Amino acid sequence: MCGIVAAVADRNIVSVLLEGLRKLEYRGYDSAGLALINDSGLQRLRAVGRVAELTAQVDEAAASGCTGIAHTRWATHGVPCERNAHPHISHGLAVVHNGIIENHESLRTRLKAEGYEFTSETDTEVVAHLIAFELKSTPDFFAATRAAIAQLQGAYALAVLSEAEPQRVIVAREGSPLLLGLADDGNYAASDASALLQVTRRIVYLENGDCAELMRGSYRITRIDGTPVERRETLSQLSADAIELGQYRHYMQKEIFEQPAALGNTLEMLGTARSIQPGLFGASTEAVLGDVRQVLIIACGTSYHAGLVARYWLEAIAGVPCSVEVASEYRYRQSVPDPQTLVVTLSQSGETADTLAALQHAKSLGMMHTLCICNVPESSLVRENALRFITRAGPEIGVASTKAFTTQLAALYLLTLTLAKLRGTLLPQREAEELQALRHLPIALSKVLELEPQIRAWAADFAMKPNALFLGRGLHYPIALEGALKLKEISYIHAEAYPAGELKHGPLALVDKNMPVVAVAPNDLLLEKLKSNLQEVRARGGELYVFADAGSGMKETDGVHVIHLPEHYGELSALLHIVPLQLLAYHVALVRGTDVDKPRNLAKSVTVE
Ligand code: M6R
Repeated sequence: MCGIVAAVADRNIVSVLLEGLRKLEYRGYDSAGLALINDSGLQRLRAVGRVAELTAQVDEAAASGCTGIAHTRWATHGVPCERNAHPHISHGLAVVHNGIIENHESLRTRLKAEGYEFTSETDTEVVAHLIAFELKSTPDFFAATRAAIAQLQGAYALAVLSEAEPQRVIVAREGSPLLLGLADDGNYAASDASALLQVTRRIVYLENGDCAELMRGSYRITRIDGTPVERRETLSQLSADAIELGQYRHYMQKEIFEQPAALGNTLEMLGTARSIQPGLFGASTEAVLGDVRQVLIIACGTSYHAGLVARYWLEAIAGVPCSVEVASEYRYRQSVPDPQTLVVTLSQSGETADTLAALQHAKSLGMMHTLCICNVPESSLVRENALRFITRAGPEIGVASTKAFTTQLAALYLLTLTLAKLRGTLLPQREAEELQALRHLPIALSKVLELEPQIRAWAADFAMKPNALFLGRGLHYPIALEGALKLKEISYIHAEAYPAGELKHGPLALVDKNMPVVAVAPNDLLLEKLKSNLQEVRARGGELYVFADAGSGMKETDGVHVIHLPEHYGELSALLHIVPLQLLAYHVALVRGTDVDKPRNLAKSVTVE
């Protein structure tokens, strides 16, 4: 989604703005722009496409300035084109925005009646004109901006500058992420800390409803009505290395290979103990979990798939009824609330608008036992829950989520064991064995990564196909769903996943020699059933690509390709079986020459509805 960088400093900040935008590229965007204040006044440059195009324009114009705002735009209102790219300008003001202004149409009508002319289709342009309008009656820039913001409905992170106030930048946040960066040479703001590590680690996270005025040597934060507020300064722990590509060609590849370390870091708190430590999900873990009789998991995309895997565990191991909901549906559905439900929100970013809204909806229905499993400790979601578990996957930059998924699964397995223990269904011997299996996961996963050359060899065939089917059974059905999602989002091949037993109820009609069928074949109780389903595919000429556990007895024959994983890994097998599917998607995308880390139309952090 859109990214914002803003700066007011006692030096030329153009390179800071551009480097900040480059660091935010992973969020997904289709155009970029910046506005500067310099000796000739307000200067705006915008470009469709990559930040590199904007950089070329900046170089050509030899643009410079000590005060500026910059933006990467992910189109919501109006097609991606220069006219719609941010910043938007009105009477010497420039505005960049992340989010959606829901009442932009009524504001636009009002402002047009006042004589303002619109040059774009964006919702953002109304903000620029509205501030200009408010400045007529409220000459103070900060106060006028707040007066305009008070009229906005929807979600926004905003940065505003004024030609008349060359040493001030105003920012505000409601629903979309924004933070301040404090440095000796000036003050900065950005959508996330990675954009500002180049200048500072001193970060102040804004809360919803906060506005801030940045000057070179100072800043102040108020609520929209002007009431001053203090927000804590923290030192970002984000390491610059964590967001560098290093030896890898793409972030997705790096993140797939980081999974053993990500799991190791996430499970570090287990130490060598034979039992689960109390308070794993926060101080009130036992009090909250002891009072729940069912679990409701809410998430989107890959995180939703992690929730689907967890449903199998929670019901089979802990004996707790569990339902899993897509956040964008749950928030508008009339459901039957039970106050003794544990509401679990899953999110890599912690900024997904639908997940945040679904959580608010669940709370509004009286369900106050909340837990989030999230990869970004400072995110909005983490602040909204009674209990929390931070996965330690490190920054995930590739739009296609990989290491966030496996670490979420590890956290969900710990939740399952904790609930099972509290309910008396986990005996000490089994508890010790389960923890040992979790601790061994990084090694087991490293073995699966060694299969990369074999998987790469399949990619060329696969890349020629327009469609693919993915099959799995039991807790590997969500793994098939996740494998299909990975393939479609980065290779643009249409892929669908089915529980293998469902094949003959419809999708079998699609199977012929042109349809590659990927099967996830763990050596579990459903293996023989799965083999029968695969026979049905073969009998219709479908080409099978099977990821089978050692000992599954799956053999290569005409039209059946098999890659063998290590021995079956029991209930945790899902964490291993997703890895070859991630690698398959990655290598197919490479063959097809797509933009692996920034697939078309997608954003990393979906901060709008
Ligand atoms: O940050 P979140 O986990 O809340 O994001 C949810 C989805 O937007 C995300 O998983 C998306 O589906 C990924 N692009 C999948 O690879």
